[in-house]
Amino acid sequence: MKGSIILSIIVSVICPVVHMWTPVFMYGTLKKGQPNYFRMEDTANGEAEFIACARTVEKYPLVIDTEYNIPFLLNVPGKGHHVYGEIYRVNQTMLDFLDKFEECPEWYQRIKIQLEVQDGDGERENKLESGSIMETEVYVKTKCEPELLQKPTYERYDTNGDHGLKYKEPE
Ligand SMILES: *[C@@H]1O[C@H](CO)[C@@H](O)[C@H](O)[C@H]1NC(C)=O
Repeated sequence: MKGSIILSIIVSVICPVVHMWTPVFMYGTLKKGQPNYFRMEDTANGEAEFIACARTVEKYPLVIDTEYNIPFLLNVPGKGHHVYGEIYRVNQTMLDFLDKFEECPEWYQRIKIQLEVQDGDGERENKLESGSIMETEVYVKTKCEPELLQKPTYERYDTNGDHGLKYKEPE
């Protein structure tokens, strides 16, 4: 109970107008330094503000699949790793863009996920405590075919990782 009160205080500090800003966890190609990050920076898509690095509280399988080497988080808690990524708060325009970009709900589904903050952003006035728990939106693969669960899982996605499965831009 105490945790959830603290959490809602944190959320109301970070998101003064809750309905206008949505926290989203990015674990794949939309993270900093990854091939689709430029879409987060493009204000034509909306606004995205980096909040903190974070790690999933539960373990989840993060796999790379399709001929385009797309990273997918599978909604199978308890398997795989505590997955590292970045929390952004996005405005409604960016959330609509992301839903379209992620082909939600056909390819990805947007669900809620519990995260442990790894480091707050020191530049921000409302810095999150390292280790605090936060709930955000996340895109997970809608259909989890059994073969996907046989694939190697990663704790931190990098298109240039030693898996050799560099992301290819789908046409
Ligand atoms: C989100 O941010 C973009 C870029 O600043 C802006 O053009 C857009 O109107 C904003 N959307 C909403 C719903 O406020």
